[in-house]
Amino acid sequence: SNISIIGVPMDLGQSRRGVDMGPSAMRYAGAVERLEALGYKLHDHGDISITRPDKYETGQAYKLKNLLQVVEANEILAMIIDQAVEKGNFPLVFGGDHSIAIGSLAGIAKHYDQLGVIWYDAHGDLNTEETSPSGNIHGMPLAVSLGLGHEKLTSIAGYTPKVKSENIVIIGARSLDPGEKELIRRKGIQVFTMHEVDRLGMAIVIERAISYLKPRTDGVHLSVDLDGLDPSEAPGVGTPVIGGMTYRESHLAMEMLAETGMITSAEFVEVNPILDEKNKTATLAVGLMGSLFGEKLK
Ligand code: ARG
Ligand code: MN
Ligand code: MN
Ligand code: MN
Repeated sequence: SNISIIGVPMDLGQSRRGVDMGPSAMRYAGAVERLEALGYKLHDHGDISITRPDKYETGQAYKLKNLLQVVEANEILAMIIDQAVEKGNFPLVFGGDHSIAIGSLAGIAKHYDQLGVIWYDAHGDLNTEETSPSGNIHGMPLAVSLGLGHEKLTSIAGYTPKVKSENIVIIGARSLDPGEKELIRRKGIQVFTMHEVDRLGMAIVIERAISYLKPRTDGVHLSVDLDGLDPSEAPGVGTPVIGGMTYRESHLAMEMLAETGMITSAEFVEVNPILDEKNKTATLAVGLMGSLFGEKLK
């Protein structure tokens, strides 16, 4: 089978430059070779070009920083992904900050009646411009995909919503803003916080996520924010949160998902090589891709 890699050097969904180099760092860490060695045919679309703003929108004055550039890039990403899915390829997106999940889901979701999403992240990314403490769009993509937030974001690819709240599972959350908690409660979104990961263990968390999603979805997008892992394992991220998932837990999660064969698209985001230690975080991401694509099974 075929994998389409799409790089999205996006750093405008948050305020720390450098995450735009994430796609290069993951290619440098051997992503393409690693997956080819597993017998996949790789189509590397290269990187989408991101329009730079005349002036970066930073600070509290902006409720939606660099909105127009984020919208433009996500429209392009959605189109490229749409074509990849149409061809029957597995879309694999390299970020860039997490705002690019808006375009990933926009391109993917129209091909499914009940797209599931696994959000592997320290954060919920369920803010809107009203609830966001930062104005950073990378804290909003899951809300946007539910149809909540600025119309320019929710209408990307010409339809909304992309996903239903009952088809989402969040794993690894440990930094949720008040508005996000409220939304989770109101929509009944399935969240396995670090409390559940600690208490149940990753094997049971993933088993429960699988048995929850399997009967209700016809495809599952896996969105891996590297800050879901502990900063000691993934130091190269812009919004690290102490107390995260380990290297071993994360590989186990990927291996168990590989065994089910239910993942139909994926993205690895928030790798910032400027903040990293000798490309450790990109190397970790590529290792996780290996597990997700069945390294253990071959
Ligand atoms: N909740 C915070 C915010 O809205 C942090 C979001 C971090 N998101 C991420 N994809 N790293 O600004
Ligand atoms: Mn199509
Ligand atoms: Mn995060
Ligand atoms: Mn995130």
